[in-house]
Amino acid sequence: MTPIQDKSHLDQEKQDAARAALRWVQDGMLVGLGTGSTAAHFIRQLGAKVQAGELRVQATATSLASENLARQLGIPLIEPRRGLRFNLTVDGADEVDPHLHLIKGGGGALLREKIIATASDYLLVIADSSKAVAQLGKFPLPLEVVSFALPWVLDAVAALGGNPVVRMSQQDPDKHAQSDQGNLLVDCHFGALNEVEQLARQLKTIPGIVEHGLFLGLARAALVVQHGQVQVLRP
Ligand code: 5RP
Repeated sequence: MTPIQDKSHLDQEKQDAARAALRWVQDGMLVGLGTGSTAAHFIRQLGAKVQAGELRVQATATSLASENLARQLGIPLIEPRRGLRFNLTVDGADEVDPHLHLIKGGGGALLREKIIATASDYLLVIADSSKAVAQLGKFPLPLEVVSFALPWVLDAVAALGGNPVVRMSQQDPDKHAQSDQGNLLVDCHFGALNEVEQLARQLKTIPGIVEHGLFLGLARAALVVQHGQVQVLRP
């Protein structure tokens, strides 16, 4: 299979997983909207249902890109407020292991994604077949980092064996990429992650790391396309 065919094959799987997630959405729900190409398929399909009058939902998005897409599609958006909890959040992932531990943040939205996932009663992950792994760590682990702290964060992560690389902007490769919050993104190459809880705790102690892309114990189910079928995985 050529890379182009492979990409369109994976895109079809993303669409299939997104379509399956629509069955989790009930009328009147408060929904968290994820970020990335798979989540964008879900937002488009949800928007079609909202426009057809088949579903009424209110939503908050995990990135400006997803928020703009939802707004264009007429999905009613709500601002963060005290006491707000989402019935359901649907989001993609960069890696999903059999415990439904995730690596997220390839799209740079890990901070808002973790905030919304934590404010949700149910995090449903949608993913193509390339995302399901036996062990996390092939995909570099993203961090969102305060710009002033960058040199010391790089030292601390290197000391943990994370081989950190500052992410560069896709629009201007001479500039650092920035998150929606104006922070920097650092991709860490730890290799296979054997002790994810321990690593998550260690990263949390480093001043200047606003958030890391390990999502542990947050996902309640994952819809992953495997062997051409949407499989429901649970932790
Ligand atoms: C963004 C994310 C995405 O969910 C993740 O990168 C997967 O993206 P895609 O659906 O495009 O493969 O975590 O921060």
